Order: sequence, then structure tokens, then C-alpha cells
Amino acid sequence: MDEGIWFGAEAGGGASAGEEHAQAPGRRGNPQAFFNAAGSSESSGIGSSDNGVEARVPLHQPVMAEEVLDLLRPGSGRLLVDATLGDGGHALAWLKAGGDVVGVDRDPAALSRARARLKEWSGHLHLVHANFSELGSLAVENVDAVLFDLGTSRLQIEDKARGFSYLDDGPLDMRMDRSRGTPAFRVLRDATEQQLSQWLSELGDVPTPRRVARAILRAGPPSSTLGLVRATEKCFPPRRRIKNLAKIFQALRMVVNREQEELSRGLAAAVDLLRDGGRVGVLTYHSGEERRVRRFLKRESGMCICPPGLPVCGCGARERLRFLRPFGKYASTEEVSVNPRARSARLWGGEKNAG
Ligand SMILES: C[S@@+](CC[C@H](N)C(=O)[O-])C[C@H]1O[C@@H](n2cnc3c(N)ncnc32)[C@H](O)[C@@H]1O
Repeated sequence: MDEGIWFGAEAGGGASAGEEHAQAPGRRGNPQAFFNAAGSSESSGIGSSDNGVEARVPLHQPVMAEEVLDLLRPGSGRLLVDATLGDGGHALAWLKAGGDVVGVDRDPAALSRARARLKEWSGHLHLVHANFSELGSLAVENVDAVLFDLGTSRLQIEDKARGFSYLDDGPLDMRMDRSRGTPAFRVLRDATEQQLSQWLSELGDVPTPRRVARAILRAGPPSSTLGLVRATEKCFPPRRRIKNLAKIFQALRMVVNREQEELSRGLAAAVDLLRDGGRVGVLTYHSGEERRVRRFLKRESGMCICPPGLPVCGCGARERLRFLRPFGKYASTEEVSVNPRARSARLWGGEKNAG
């Protein structure tokens, strides 16, 4: 938390996004304490480009943008907390519809790009460097909508120095926020075969996870993306290699960024921020995320998720939400044909009940 900063404050005065918006009537938080830890903020590298990659990589294409707006209902003065700002594509659509945005991302490079892209909307925008599991520390309340667009952005994937891609060689890092956490190569170095096998199976649905885990640990373990590719290439027939590499990289990325734990905490915090009738939307991209989001939305809408046969409910089901998309919504075939990332996307939603 102490690394979280209030983005406007970091800009150091003048017509910064935060300051302008802070004066706006109807503001739902105290801008000076916009992010509770802001007083102890330190520069976290936001605003500085690592190596020019930020400028070179094309913008991330927002997935199901129309459906997201349809679900979250933008409008004049309505406040969106975009918990996964990325390149700001969804945020831009909300701003264009007359709304205000608090944009959160754990990746300083993402905030830097979004700040430049959304410059003309600075009076309606606050940017916050934080993990969405820390949403509870945002000094805002009665929010109209919260959006989670899970996973990685194009900027992260295409910067080989970040180590997210099996198509490029680079250091096996995979941290979305390189100012904290443990890079992937160290996670592998410290993992046991059993642990690694469990991660591969549960977070990546990797077939023969034990065999893959053994191959990885026997290889050193690897400290580069190419090293990881080479260590595992004999574990699968050639025609299944790419698909399984994607699964291996996904599982490792999820461990490095503690994605499952952060998601549960982020969702719970998001519901607290919402006003009565406010909505939360979540875009998921694989079965592990889907399971977690669906279970959360079921439980928060009063449906018991305990294993069958338990004499007493212990899951804490309560009716805080109305589950709006019990089966998740898929992207249109037209969108999938122009944006392959939309193929695996599912949009989920909930509306906060009164009281
Ligand atoms: C798929 S991209 C979002 C793209 C964005 N909707 C757009 O239209 O450009 C996901 C973003 O969420 C961020 N992210 C992932 N997990 C996060 C977390 N736990 N807390 C904050 N940001 C997170 C990533 O750094 C990445 O920039």
C-alpha cells in the first residue's frame, strides 16, 4: 500500500487530472486523501518510459466495449472505477459518454500510457497506482460502476523485457508491477515439483503437469522465456506445443501476480464501493477466472456455494447483489473476427441491492 500514489499529486501541481477533478461538484471522495496511503507516496516510476516500448506497441483493443457500457450504464457525472485501466480503452468510452473515471492499475507503464492517451479528459480522470485488491483504500464511495478487465494488456505481452510471452526471448519476470513481488524465475527456483505441478494443473489446466514440472526443474530452472520454452518443448507433441506453452505461461503468471487471491479481494472491495443500484462488471478470459467470479457473484446474490451434503451453510452467502449474467456473455462473432483476444472473453455482472 505504501507504494500507492495519487496520480494527480505526483504530477506536482498545475492543471493535473486530480486537482481539476477535485474541485468538481458532486465529488464523492476527499481528493487530498484520494488514496489513503497517498501521504506516504513515493515516486514509483510512473510517467517514465522504460525503453521506448510504451511508445512503439500499438494500443490494446478493449474487449466487448459496447456490452460493457450496456451493462455499466455510463452517463453525465456517473463515476466508474476502472480497476484494470490498461491502455484506457474502456475508460475512454465511459469518458466520451460524459462520465468520470478513477483509473487503477498495478503497472506503472500502463498508467503512463493511459495518462498520455486520456490527456484531454484530465478534468474527469484520476489515475491511481495500486493493486485492485486495495480498492478498499480508495477514498471514494457511492460509485456507479466498477470494471475488472482481467489478465494482461498488449503493452505487457509485447514488451519482451517483461517476460510474459513465449514468442520472444527475455528475462522470466512476469510481474505486472516490477516494484514489488518476486519474478517468475525466482518463483521457479524456490518451487518444489509438487507445488509447480499443482499450479500447472489448477491455474493452467496443463495436461501431464507433473511431467512438465519435472522438466522445468531439471532444466535449472530456466531464467529466460526461451529457456522455459526449451525446457518444456519435449513434453507435448508438436501440434499441441503452442497451446500448452500458453497454458504454462498463464499458470506461472497467475502465481507470480497472485491473481486468484487478488481477484477475490478486489471483487469484495468493489461491492463495498458501489452505491445501491451500482453495478460491477468483470471480463474473464479462462476457466479459472470464470469459476472464481461466478462463485463470488452467486454467493453475494444469496446462492449457497457450499459443497452438496453439508448440514449447515458455511460459505457466507448473502444477498448483497443481483446476479445479472448468470451464464456470462460472450463477444459477438464480428468482434472475435477482428480481435482474437475476445474469443475467450466472458462478461459477468452484478447490481448492488439497496440496504
Ligand atoms: C486486459 S488489460 C486492461 C485493458 C483495458 N481495459 C483497456 O481497454 O485498455 C488488464 C490490465 O489490468 C492490470 N491489472 C491486472 N491485475 C491487476 C490488479 N490486481 N490490480 C491492478 N491492476 C491489475 C494489468 O496491469 C493490465 O494493465
